[in-house]
Amino acid sequence: MLGTILALFSIISVAMANKERTFIMVKPDGVQRGLVGKIIERFEQKGFKLVALKFTWASKELLEKHYADLSSRPFFPGLVNYMNSGPVVPMVWEGLNVVKTGRQMLGATNPADSLPGTIRGDFCIQVGRNIIHGSDAVESAEKEIALWFTEKELVSWTPAATNWVYE
Ligand code: RTP
Ligand code: MG
Repeated sequence: MLGTILALFSIISVAMANKERTFIMVKPDGVQRGLVGKIIERFEQKGFKLVALKFTWASKELLEKHYADLSSRPFFPGLVNYMNSGPVVPMVWEGLNVVKTGRQMLGATNPADSLPGTIRGDFCIQVGRNIIHGSDAVESAEKEIALWFTEKELVSWTPAATNWVYE
C-alpha cells in the first residue's frame, strides 16, 4: 500500500517537473535578422513544448515592467529603446528544467562570452544586440509569463511525441 502511494507520488512529481515553464523572447534584432525560425527550431528540436507565442511591437511601459529589476542600471534607457525599436516574438516553452536549460541554450548575456553552439554564441556579437531573452529563474518566468500572456493564450495540449521525449 505504502509502496503504491510512493510510486504514485513519484509519478505525479515527475509529471509536475515536466510542466516547468519559461518565457523566451526573440528581441527586435533577432526578428529583423530573420532568426525567428532558427530560434524556435532550437527549442522544438530539444523536445520542449510550445505553450504560447505571439508577434507584437511592445510598448515602452510593458518593456519597463519586463526589465524593472534593471531600472537603476546605466544601460536601462538604451535597453528599453532597443527592445521598443521593432516587433518581438514572446513565447512560453514547457519541459523538465526548461528555465535552466533554456538559459544554457541562450548562452552568456554578452555574446563575447557565449560558447559556440549556444544561440547567442552562434548568432550575435554585442551585448546590446544579443537577439534573445530568457527567464533566469522559475519565479521570474512565472512573472514574465503573466506579464506578456493572458491565461487564455496559454494553450493546453499534449504533443504526440511526449512519451518519446520523457521515459
Ligand atoms: P535577458 O534578460 O535579456 O535574457 O538577458 P540576461 O538575463 O542574460 O541579462 P540581464 O542582466 O538580465 O540584462 C538584460 C539585457 O540588457 C542588456 N544589457 N546591456 N550594455 C550592457 O552592459 C548591458 N548589460 C545588459 C542585454 O540585452 C541583456 O540581455
Ligand atoms: Mg535577464
